[in-house]
Amino acid sequence: MRQNFVAGNWKMNLTLPEAQALTSEIVQMMHDELTGPAPQVVICPPFPLLAGVGHLLGDSGNPALGAQNCHQKESGAYTGEVSAKQLQSVGCKYVILGHSERRQHFHEDDALLAAKLKTVLAAGLKPIFCVGESLETREADETFDFIGKQLKDGLFHLSNEEFDQVVIAYEPIWAIGTGRTASSQQAQEVHAFIRERVAVAYDAQAAANTTILYGGSCNAQNARELFSQADVDGGLIGGASLKSRDFVEIVKSF
Ligand code: 13P
Repeated sequence: MRQNFVAGNWKMNLTLPEAQALTSEIVQMMHDELTGPAPQVVICPPFPLLAGVGHLLGDSGNPALGAQNCHQKESGAYTGEVSAKQLQSVGCKYVILGHSERRQHFHEDDALLAAKLKTVLAAGLKPIFCVGESLETREADETFDFIGKQLKDGLFHLSNEEFDQVVIAYEPIWAIGTGRTASSQQAQEVHAFIRERVAVAYDAQAAANTTILYGGSCNAQNARELFSQADVDGGLIGGASLKSRDFVEIVKSF
């Protein structure tokens, strides 16, 4: 279902007490300040903090709990890894997959991500699947080819029913953590391209129903302009999700 949507990716930040304080502030501010229909909000803490943060989110499903990664196997001898079923058992509803930091630092490729998607969906979790080009790719004018390939090789093997559960996030690598946001026009252009690719791979209805987020230096100042674009349904927020006031301002930017 296409919906207004904001997810906070805390990456490898915060201790449990810090995470719980931040969560309580976000929940309280959302309760006090949101009028009208709320966007779907998802908070994605590091693995060890999931349960402790999840307890503070309440039963409404908004905010929902999400993880930042997940192993592709169901269970077994994979020391240090975390399964989809474990995430589901501590209350996760969403999992970020294919973040550029995982692709870059942990060499996750499209084939691995395709396998992770299947496992996550089989456990009843909703993937937030990330795509995005490097500066080099953009400057070589290869952005659309590159993202088209990430979608085709990583995502479009899913059935219609499976694809229905997926949220897509466009995160240009050059905009992540750099303070250099994509212009709303650059974001819209790529989002429209992604939606068009979904229509070709599935159908027009699937394209119209897909939630597509923008991520990369999205903050309380630029969120409204980005979210006002026709094909931008919300944001995947890094740095600004670590400050309750900034994050809630972004949540209110529709
Ligand atoms: P920043 O908002 O810090 O640029 O990070 C974006 C991101 O990577 C979210 O997943």
